[in-house]
Amino acid sequence: MIYGKKISWSYKSKKGSLPVLKEVTFELKKGRITTFMGQSGAGKTTLLKCVANLHSSYEGVITCNGEDIRKFDPVERASRIGFVLQQFHLFPHLSVLSNCTYALVNAMGMGETEAEKRAIVTLDSLGMQSFIQSFPSQLSGGQQQRVAIARALVLHPNILLLDEPTSALDPESKLSLESLLLDLNRRGITIALSSHDMPFIRKMMDVVYFMEQGELIEEWDRTTDDLSSKDRIKQFLTHI
Ligand SMILES: Nc1ncnc2c1ncn2[C@@H]1O[C@H](COP(=O)(O)OP(=O)(O)O)[C@@H](O)[C@H]1O
Ligand SMILES: [Mg+2]
Repeated sequence: MIYGKKISWSYKSKKGSLPVLKEVTFELKKGRITTFMGQSGAGKTTLLKCVANLHSSYEGVITCNGEDIRKFDPVERASRIGFVLQQFHLFPHLSVLSNCTYALVNAMGMGETEAEKRAIVTLDSLGMQSFIQSFPSQLSGGQQQRVAIARALVLHPNILLLDEPTSALDPESKLSLESLLLDLNRRGITIALSSHDMPFIRKMMDVVYFMEQGELIEEWDRTTDDLSSKDRIKQFLTHI
């Protein structure tokens, strides 16, 4: 599905170049939930941004079903790979409904009525149907996140990326996010997320990559690997 081979990326400033990702090779397997875990600064967000085509100046290649993702324009990327940023970045001046129809109408050229129908079906499936006329500032963090997820899903991607999805949530919203993501995954969406939230990772654990200082240093797949042989992942998981 998504395959990244030897991805390297450096942050460039006047003072020079700081390596952030170092020859990272990974796979987002179809139908699975992949978690990139590791401490703050490990490079998790940067890696997700590469997969979402928000960084294209990396070395190496990322393919989606065999095609180099750098060939995708923003609309094509978003209709294959949805991305929910850590701070959601909803349009504050638009209603929930307009947040979800914006790309359909303005980037894909869909008619308003059809776009609204599609957005309402998506918002409905995320339990947000009664908030369609609300504005982002009137919603809780968990509700804003659902709108951000809906905004990504209206384009019907098969893959959903989420950067630190629990970071802005209270404990109750965290629980409902867990069941929402498991439900989306059961409905066939391939999920990749970054997190350093151990209780959350323990619930999501399916395929896990452990990152440290820009490198992927350990990988665990629930279906094939014994956790007891994965020292770093095990150590991190039992730490908190
Ligand atoms: N725009 C930037 N400016 C300065 N440093 C950056 C920038 N982007 C990434 N970095 C550096 O890259 C490293 C990895 O960042 P990031 O991908 O955000 O890690 P994580 O998401 O795991 O916390 C950090 O050490 C950070 O300082
Ligand atoms: Mg991050």
